Amino acid sequence: MSSLTRIALWGQQLVCEVLQPGELAVDLTSGKGRDTYALVKAVDPEGQVVALDLQAAALEQTTELLQSNDFTINRWPADLAIPKQAGIFLVQACHSTLDKLLQHPAKAIIANLGYMPGGDPSLVTRPDSTLAVLQQSLELLSPGGRLAVTVYPAHPGGGEERTVVNEFFCSLPSDLWKVLSLRAVNCIGAPCLLVAERTSRI
Ligand SMILES: C[S@@+](CC[C@H](N)C(=O)[O-])C[C@H]1O[C@@H](n2cnc3c(N)ncnc32)[C@H](O)[C@@H]1O
Repeated sequence: MSSLTRIALWGQQLVCEVLQPGELAVDLTSGKGRDTYALVKAVDPEGQVVALDLQAAALEQTTELLQSNDFTINRWPADLAIPKQAGIFLVQACHSTLDKLLQHPAKAIIANLGYMPGGDPSLVTRPDSTLAVLQQSLELLSPGGRLAVTVYPAHPGGGEERTVVNEFFCSLPSDLWKVLSLRAVNCIGAPCLLVAERTSRI
């Protein structure tokens, strides 16, 4: 596939370019760990990365990827707030609990929605919990911070999720949020990337 239409990679790039070593970044759906790994490299050294997933298999794959690249992982319990502290924190939890887990501001938040290829397809992101965590993410982002969401309309329920996510981004006030939408416009069912950047005026 051409790199032009690899939408999730644009999402990674657009959040990583605002990250500096030492900052906090969040992956709302760790899956196979590729986005988490990109965030880790962008805030290393001394940065903090928090990655969540519902699925034990996803956290195992993320752990494997990071450990094979010589990073140390903290597996964190879902019922305990995460301290402001350098390191990688992996949590098996629904991302709609983010506001209970994290109370300090993040510079970047990424979500690659849908289900994990090769994983359990019933563990798919759903509009209600997605919307809940997107609202919480806005509260958590520091000025200049970015939220990037890749949404897949082709699987059952994906079309509804895309509508909800698209409406959410479209409703952000333009004096407070810069918003970008990216999609292969000549391909039916192609994923869509939405990115919001918090202006420094808030
Ligand atoms: C497309 S995959 C993520 C890909 C991943 N970011 C990567 O780089 O490989 C979507 C992931 O979302 C997870 N997921 C689904 N619903 C979730 C929820 N409510 N909270 C957290 N993770 C969820 C799935 O288990 C799956 O691993």
